[in-house]
This record gives sequence, C-alpha cells and structure tokens, in this order.
Amino acid sequence: MIGHREAPLRGSVPGVVEDAGVAADRPILEMIGVSKSFTSLDGHESVALSPVTTEVARGEFVSLIGPSGCGKTTLLRMIAGLASPTTGQIRYEGQDRAIPPSDFGFVFQDHGLMPWRTVLDNVLLPIEVLRGRPRAEDKARAADLLETMGLGGRGTSLPGELSGGMSQRVAIARALIHEPQILLMDEPFGALDAMTRERMNDDLQRLHQDNRRTVVFVTHSISEAIYLSDRVCVLTGRPGRVAGEFGIESSRPRTSETRTGDEARRYERVIRDALNLSDRESSASPAPVLSAVGSPS
Ligand SMILES: Nc1ncnc2c1ncn2[C@@H]1O[C@H](COP(=O)(O)OP(=O)(O)OP(=O)(O)O)[C@@H](O)[C@H]1O
Ligand SMILES: [Mg+2]
Repeated sequence: MIGHREAPLRGSVPGVVEDAGVAADRPILEMIGVSKSFTSLDGHESVALSPVTTEVARGEFVSLIGPSGCGKTTLLRMIAGLASPTTGQIRYEGQDRAIPPSDFGFVFQDHGLMPWRTVLDNVLLPIEVLRGRPRAEDKARAADLLETMGLGGRGTSLPGELSGGMSQRVAIARALIHEPQILLMDEPFGALDAMTRERMNDDLQRLHQDNRRTVVFVTHSISEAIYLSDRVCVLTGRPGRVAGEFGIESSRPRTSETRTGDEARRYERVIRDALNLSDRESSASPAPVLSAVGSPS
C-alpha cells in the first residue's frame, strides 16, 4: 500500500533496538518550523527554506527530494549544526540542539576528499578532528571499512588516482569511521553512471540494514529514493517546504525486481505527481499543496 501522510511520522522503526533510557517512541531527530533566509551584502533577504516540520525515527531511512535550489543541502547543514536556522527548532535525542559532530557522518554533495591525503588518511580525518591522533585500532577499522567498500589495498592511493565511484565510497567510509548514529548524505551518487549507482545503492542498503543506522539522504532520483527509503519527503521549489511525505512499505531487502515492479511504479507516480504539483504551486502561489496530493488506489 502506498501511504501519504500529512502529519509527521511518529514512532520508531520495528526491529530497532533502543538505547537504554531513550523513549522507544521518541524520534531521534525533530525539525519544528525550521526555516532559513540569507542576507546578501546589499541587505536583500532571500528565503532559501520555508518552515519545515518533520521528524526522523531511530533507524529510519528518510530521503529528501525536491528541485534544485529548494534548500535540501541547507536543511542538512542545519541538522548537522553547520548552519543555524533563521526560525524554528532542531531537536536531537529530545533536546534543543543540532546533531553533535561525534554523532553524525556527512557525505557531501561533492565527495570533498583532501587531494593531498592518502585514502586511508582521508578516512581517518574525523577521528583526528574528534579524538586526536588515530590509534592502531582506528587504522584497523579504517582498513576494514575500505575492504567492506571494495577498496581493500587502495589505502595508500591518492584521491586523484580513484574513479568517481571509488571516491564516493571513500567518502562513505570517512563518514562511518567514528561509528555515528546518523548518516547525512547529500546526493552522494549524483555524479555516478547508472550501473555504479545501483551497486552503490545496494551497498548502502546493506549498510543501513546491517546496523539499522538512521539515514537522511538527499537525492534528485525518485527511483533511488523509493528503492532505499522507509519514507520519502517531497520538498517544493524555492523556497522549499514539505509538499508531502510518502511511506515506502516495499519489503526488504529490496532487489532489482523491487526497482522495476508495479509497486515501485505506483510509488513513482505519486511522488512524481507531488513534485510536479509542488512545482506548479511554487511558481504560481505559495498556497499549501498537501490537500491536493491524494493517496493512489
Ligand atoms: N551561504 C549562502 N548564501 C546565500 N545563499 C545561499 C547560501 N547557501 C545556499 N544559498 C541559497 O539557498 C538556496 C538553497 O540552496 P541549497 O544548496 O540548499 O539547495 P539544494 O536544494 O541543495 O539544491 P541542489 O539540488 O542544486 O543541490 C539556493 O537558492 C542557494 O542559492
Ligand atoms: Mg544541494
């Protein structure tokens, strides 16, 4: 069944073990009326993101999808405390705060590897920033992660010697090295060819399923969002706001049949409709679009 919710999702994902002392039904992350405006040098203020209210359950995989410039990266940066909201609140683990650096791994829109550092030293960077000089066990873990990512033996390479797909995998290993609670991923596979992208989707699905790590994932690909997500959050064109949220209930693990099956096509249709509708709405007027997006039969 395809679900469309107008209210934020409540509750955690089945099968996820809660930390002791953390309420089972408390979302790990809440955004309450979070907006962002930028002021240019001549004092002109522009709204990048209209107030967004949503939440992410522990262990959930949530995708943000929306047109270029609607504020997806800006929202991710605010969640990570790399930018401050103009209005509203971000709550992490029930407290008014962005996610602390030790608790998130960030995969940037451009992989952002340091070209002068070896692959291994790139992966170890968060350890250096958060805890100081890497220990032997950190290096062993980095080597393990590279092995898992299919990059065993490439630790001494420089980023310039890698393909785009390999670089993205190094960026993911770097985001995971300090065992964060939440993985924030900003169009990590946007620059990859279709085959590599599908392989990377499978790797990411495995990573999410093995550890039940919470993931907030930005993408422009509707099919990728459906394939990976527990929920897809559709944002309107600039300034972005939530046009609709769709629970993806396809069974896991998802396979190439999931990708091409009838259920995926139905999800794709409603999400595409929400995106098209929000596009028309945002160019015509700022009226809410929620009521216009219905559940398909
Ligand atoms: N530091 C900044 N100063 C001024 N404007 C900014 C800044 N960062 C982002 N913006 C503006 O905010 C809006 C949203 O930008 P953002 O990068 O969040 O969009 P996006 O949805 O991630 O787009 P894309 O899909 O192209 O990556 C854009 O119009 C952008 O120009
Ligand atoms: Mg972006």
